[in-house]
Formats: sequence, structure tokens, C-alpha cells
Amino acid sequence: MSSLFNGIVLGELSLQNRVVVPPMCQYMATDGLPCPWHDMHYGGLGISGAGLVIMEGTAVEAIGRISLGDLGLYNDEQEAALKQMLARIRTYSTAKWGIQLAHAGRKASSQVFDAPYPVPPEEGGWIPIGPSAIAHSDRWPAPTEMSQAEIARVVESFTDSARRAGRVGFDLIEVHAAHGYLISSFLSPVANRRTDDYGGSLENRMRFALQVASAVRAAWPSHKALGFRVNGTDWIDGGITIVESIKLAKALRLAGVDYLAVSSGGNSRQQKLPPVVPGYQVHIAQAIKEGSGIATMAVGMILDPKQADEIVASGRADLVAIARATLDDPRWALHAAQALGEEIAYPRSYWRTTGKTWPGYKLVHPPPGAETGMQPAQPGRR
Ligand SMILES: Cc1cc2nc3c(=O)[nH]c(=O)nc-3n(C[C@H](O)[C@H](O)[C@H](O)COP(=O)(O)O)c2cc1C
Repeated sequence: MSSLFNGIVLGELSLQNRVVVPPMCQYMATDGLPCPWHDMHYGGLGISGAGLVIMEGTAVEAIGRISLGDLGLYNDEQEAALKQMLARIRTYSTAKWGIQLAHAGRKASSQVFDAPYPVPPEEGGWIPIGPSAIAHSDRWPAPTEMSQAEIARVVESFTDSARRAGRVGFDLIEVHAAHGYLISSFLSPVANRRTDDYGGSLENRMRFALQVASAVRAAWPSHKALGFRVNGTDWIDGGITIVESIKLAKALRLAGVDYLAVSSGGNSRQQKLPPVVPGYQVHIAQAIKEGSGIATMAVGMILDPKQADEIVASGRADLVAIARATLDDPRWALHAAQALGEEIAYPRSYWRTTGKTWPGYKLVHPPPGAETGMQPAQPGRR
């Protein structure tokens, strides 16, 4: 029995396996509303075999969108559209469904396919908000420093979107507190130079994140799971460190957060990223799990079923998120199960394509090192 396909309970939410499709922005929304692309994309991921699919970073207010193409969950029309979409997908998908609630902070109002440049005001761009009036880079306008009333308003926006997510029917919320977006920028001394209760000491820099955690937890049914995506490190001197992230993890756990998805970077263009090799962030998830006792989701260049299984089996993380490898192969988890010798339910219409029913399966998905028996194409023949 593999560890990857051994189920897990997060809070009170049962997942049939530990493969997660993490949030991936599609930048295809208009006015925060999903379109047929989202039906197609998430419909496909819903039959990917992953135990949990988390929908893309979805803004809790209009100025919290990374771009004009982001999904939103801050008005009734968006709530109704997501509810209809999720109901359609659930007709066939047995996965559990999460949504990532996000506020882009000082990195908001960016071009969709020419990031990281901001959208000019005449094309619908806006001046973003942040903890301090420090631009993310010289390409960006300095954000407006948020007043304490504005901080309270954004906490309420997260809470309102959480209530809406409950009515839509999601099983899990993941709050985006990584990659230099609003909550992440409050946590990082690189972006947060405030001198009030929200800046300076780690305790102060964590205040906003913890207020969001407590407010969302209170508005979100206790049987549904709550996670945070955090930066284990900013990869820059003076930024968030693993030691600080462990303290944050302990505090989030006490606030009722069930798991942390551990990512890194994005707070500064001066960051010194390590080589992006397979599993390059797993040791950070491991350190946070060991240091705080919270369940963790590892992410980043997890590509291969054996690699993913080993991460769970060795106890380095509880869940593994497979992002780009799932876009590349939307049946990644169905194939991983077979590679690990597991029985996994296929969508009924695809029953003729499993390893047991289709002789071609082992030719297109050979076990590592196996002889496929496939003949190379003959030049000139059709
Ligand atoms: C197209 C795309 C969109 C992404 N959007 C988000 C997002 O909305 N929220 C987030 O936290 N991370 C986002 N990410 C980061 C991924 O969730 C993941 O952390 C990253 O791709 C590394 O994992 P991988 O090596 O398995 O792709 C995105 C990544 C991609 C490729």
C-alpha cells in the first residue's frame, strides 16, 4: 500500500488520497466571473484522480485581484456563478473541492500575460494597497499604506468571502498568505515597515494574518477544512525565515488552521532563489511540520509518483501538491496510482483506458527502466 493513496482527515474533512491540485490562476475571468474555460479546466481536474482540487487564487475584493482576469468572490453574481459551476462539476467529480481566497496587495493590478508590469489607469488599473508605501519593484507604483480601518475592512472581506464559499459548497478554504501578496507582505519585513501594532516585531507582523485566520475560522463551518499558504522563506536577507514561519505555524494552528501549504518567495525582486530542482521546497515543509506539529502540504517540482509517495511515507509532509505536472498531464493522479500499484476508480466513460483494460497503457506509461516494445516510426511511412 502506498502512502500517497492512503486517505487523510484534515480537521473533519476526509480526503481519499493525498494528491492535491493546488491553486493555479487562469486569468480568464471578467469582472471576477468564471467563464466556459473554468468549466472545462476544473471539469477536467475534477476527474484527475486527485483527492483535493483547490480553485485558483480568488479575490476577496475588486482591488485585491492580481489582474483583471482573476476570479472574485465578493458579490452575489460571482457567488451564484461559482455555485452553479461547482454543482455541474460535482455531477461527475468525486474529489473534494477547495478555493483559495486571496488579496494581491501591492502586487495587484498587474498585466495578465505581461506580468510583472502594472495595468495603466486608462486600461482599468488602480493604485494597490499594502502595509507600507514601498513599491514591489521600480516598475510598480508605491502602494497606499493601509490605515487600521482599511485593515479591518480587508479582514471583513476575507470573512464575507468565506461565508460565500460556504454557501457555494466548497469543502475547504486556503487563505493565500504567500508569494508577496497582501498577507505575505504584512508578514515580511521587506514590505512591512509599519510602526503601529501591525509592524516591527514578528508578533505585530503576524497580527493581520491571525485576525484573518480567526475571523475566517469563525465564519466557516467547523466540519470544513481551513488552510493557509505561507512562505517558509522569502529567500532574502531581512525577509521571512524558516524560524519565523514555525512561530507563525504554531499561532495559526492555535487559531484553528488545519494545514499549511508551504511555498516561498515573491516578496522581493532581489530574492536569491535556489536552483528549482525536484522537491526544492520540501525541506521547508518538513521543518515547519516538525517545528509546529501542524499538517503540511509540500509543493514545488514534485513530478514523479515515487518522489511524491516518498515525501509522504517519510513523514516530511502530509500532502503533496502537483501543479504544473497536472497541467501537463491532467490524469497525473490516475497514472500515479497505477504506477504505485493501487486500484483507483476511473471515470466510467474512460474504463477502457486503464492499465487492466487497455494493452496500450503499459506502452505509453512504462514503469521506469522498462522496455516498451514500441517500434520507432518508419521514415516516409504514414
Ligand atoms: C499557471 C499557474 C498559476 C498559479 N497560480 C497560483 C495561485 O493562484 N495561487 C498560488 O498560491 N499559487 C499559484 N501558482 C503556484 C503553484 O500553485 C505552485 O506552487 C507552483 O507552480 C510550484 O509547483 P509545481 O512545481 O508543481 O508547478 C501558480 C502556478 C502556475 C503554474
